[in-house]
Amino acid sequence: MLSRRDFFYSTLALYAAWPRQLFAGVPQRNTRFETSPFTLGVASGDPTATGIVLWTRLAVDPLNGGGMPPQPVEVEWRVAADEQMSRTVKSGATVAAREWGHTVHVEVEGLRPQTWYWYQFRAGNELSAVGRTRTFPAARADVDRARFGFVSCQHYEQGLYTALEHMAGEDLDFALHLGDYIYENPGGPNRVRRHVGGELLTLEDYRNRYAQYKSDPALQAVHVRFPWIVVWDDHEVDNNYAGLTSESNDPVEEFAKRRAAAYQAYYEHMPLRRSSIPRGPLMQIHRPFSYGRLASFFMMDTRQFRTDQPCGDNVKPLCDGVRDPKATLLGPTQEKWLVDGLSRSPARWNFLAQQIMMARLDRVPGPDVGISMDKWDGYEAERNRLLKFLAEKKPSNPIVLAGDIHNNWVNDLHVDAADVTSPIVATEFVGTSVTSTGDGVEITEAQQAMVAENPWVRFCNNQRGYVVCELAKDALRTNYRVVDFVSRPGAQIRTRASFVVETGRPGAQPT
Ligand SMILES: [Fe+2]
Repeated sequence: MLSRRDFFYSTLALYAAWPRQLFAGVPQRNTRFETSPFTLGVASGDPTATGIVLWTRLAVDPLNGGGMPPQPVEVEWRVAADEQMSRTVKSGATVAAREWGHTVHVEVEGLRPQTWYWYQFRAGNELSAVGRTRTFPAARADVDRARFGFVSCQHYEQGLYTALEHMAGEDLDFALHLGDYIYENPGGPNRVRRHVGGELLTLEDYRNRYAQYKSDPALQAVHVRFPWIVVWDDHEVDNNYAGLTSESNDPVEEFAKRRAAAYQAYYEHMPLRRSSIPRGPLMQIHRPFSYGRLASFFMMDTRQFRTDQPCGDNVKPLCDGVRDPKATLLGPTQEKWLVDGLSRSPARWNFLAQQIMMARLDRVPGPDVGISMDKWDGYEAERNRLLKFLAEKKPSNPIVLAGDIHNNWVNDLHVDAADVTSPIVATEFVGTSVTSTGDGVEITEAQQAMVAENPWVRFCNNQRGYVVCELAKDALRTNYRVVDFVSRPGAQIRTRASFVVETGRPGAQPT
């Protein structure tokens, strides 16, 4: 149990946790809660060798704005070396303020590398659940292996989080979320579950939606078990938005306000660092992580800085806009950051963790070509630059991770994306959705036709689940874990397929 004495109070610590945060009022220390305010669980994320971000939110009435008093509330936190929370290694206090939806972000420092820790929050008379987290290895550490998972697309209405329930039972060091953590659509009838509220537009709307998702016990469980590194895709704001262009081409000033609200709610509900605090409609989410000398992770953002989809979006024949050298997913600053980072990376494996599929995918059977303008296919010049860079500068073992399209795909990435005879320069693993599009099938007829026409595709499967990556010095093994249904509880998890990439030999090999 926590005791008062375990906590270190100082005005300095209180404000040091939030140097850029403004809040009004004097923090309330001894709030008496009638019911627990820890209804949305706890989480940790953005690990370094010495630090971790701890997250929670106080909400006694989570689906209706949180139900918290307007005053800021003091929240104590504690990190221990054991699950019983008996050996405290760090502790402190911070503030949950109305201005930030009574969310809490603590950046703990001074931890040991590659070490499991447990953490817990306390507000007034209430204690949170105990979360488990883990630091990364030191930058130069000679690390042998890592086990991590990645997921995307967890539409609440389209299924149960059975896959996350199973993922929480996996032996993972950390996990990546590649976007579509929430969906912005209004609640609809005849679904597995129903969104509360209409289409998300305001900060209050987005907060309530995160609260509904985070009320799910399986989503809480998967955050409790290991740290997460998260990036967004489109649905955290608006379907297929590009920069400041919304899906339905709303006036830019109007959409900028909506994006600012969505970004703030995203920051509030994720275990992110101060460097990701939004400034209006801008928020830095692309960032690097190094897992010793074994791996580097480049977390990428293909939404905020992108130019509008060419040719009016959707699946279209090739058009001039696809080849426009100024068309971009990353924006020039992020593209330079990525290329510089890859050039300098000392890691054996380099992961480009992002949202959308990079491999060429002709979706129209027969001689006609049809590509999805929302993917890398719609931004050919930028993809060519990146693939050419991989071919010429040869950063060590590049691996592309993606989500977004609600199916599993494994692709060889050729330097000329549409020429299977050109050299393979990287390997791409696309993870399916947790729930989005509902109960799956092994593969659709349309997908079978795509596999036949796109010879760099090594695997396609249309079931729900997640991907587990077992990384060693000499090889990466990916296990595609799937469930047979999400419309009712109780689906078992199984490995549908596994692939291996050997070091120095780009391309996926089935096992
Ligand atoms: Fe999605």
